[in-house]
Amino acid sequence: MPFKQKLAEKTGLPLKALPSSYQKVGDIILIKLFGSTAGQHKKIGEAVLEMLPYIRTVCMIKGIAGEYRRPRAEVIAGDKNTTTTHKEHGCLYRIDVAKIMFSKGNLSERRRLINQIKPNETIIDMFAGIGYFSIGIAKNSKAKEIYAIEKNPTSFKFLKENISLNKIKNIKPMMADCRFATLPEKADRIIMGYFPGTERFLPKAFSLLKKKGIIHYHNVYKQSELWEKPLEQLRKRAEANGFVLTRIITKKKVKSTAPRTYHIVIDAKFKKQ
Ligand SMILES: C[S@@+](CC[C@H](N)C(=O)[O-])C[C@H]1O[C@@H](n2cnc3c(N)ncnc32)[C@H](O)[C@@H]1O
Repeated sequence: MPFKQKLAEKTGLPLKALPSSYQKVGDIILIKLFGSTAGQHKKIGEAVLEMLPYIRTVCMIKGIAGEYRRPRAEVIAGDKNTTTTHKEHGCLYRIDVAKIMFSKGNLSERRRLINQIKPNETIIDMFAGIGYFSIGIAKNSKAKEIYAIEKNPTSFKFLKENISLNKIKNIKPMMADCRFATLPEKADRIIMGYFPGTERFLPKAFSLLKKKGIIHYHNVYKQSELWEKPLEQLRKRAEANGFVLTRIITKKKVKSTAPRTYHIVIDAKFKKQ
């Protein structure tokens, strides 16, 4: 029986008050509730706890905002501690789900990226968060060095904890605004896992790229802007910074973020002019 139906049976609430899906992070369930009243939230949370016995906490996500992508979250049932350990692609991630987001929609994207890494690469992860990309890459590839830059002190604390938890030696965590970070070497590959407005960070990305290199460019666009606008932005910004775009390896939608609006990623090769 689908999750929503089961929840309706357990709570006696109408389907429109209930979520049709949930996200599991470690032993915490995250749900979005739109059609229910504050009084019904606890009932829904407790029913979820009964249905999923290995779950400790049910947390309602009311939105995600700001450059740190900080969630607005409220525990509606179970233990009030919102820090948990999540497992993905053989890696462990400590995270406080009430303070930092963990995007389920980016799961296959993280796998796809890991599969592209070649031995001995130097990689810069300009928006490392708690290590979503960096940790998976370090654990599952033969990359030489990964510079993981993160601006938010809360995420940075978890990034460092996750590096030790996964016994990783080749990630250099750096707490900084990536636009002003100084690095000891240039990279074969740069990950720009942030949006919106990622194009503002392209000049810095080009300044950190070797003579030939790959940029993984994430951003958000309207359907009507695909793919002319992002490709034009990449070409123009490359030229303005002394590079040429030599090949689009992949361009794809990662997930929908609003009606007819998409989080996209472009993997592109550049060469110094
Ligand atoms: C959306 S998260 C990363 C998500 C990740 N790509 C995934 O797969 O779920 C983006 C991170 O960039 C960080 N950030 C935002 N602006 C930054 C900046 N100027 N320099 C460094 N980090 C920044 C945020 O704090 C956040 O942790």
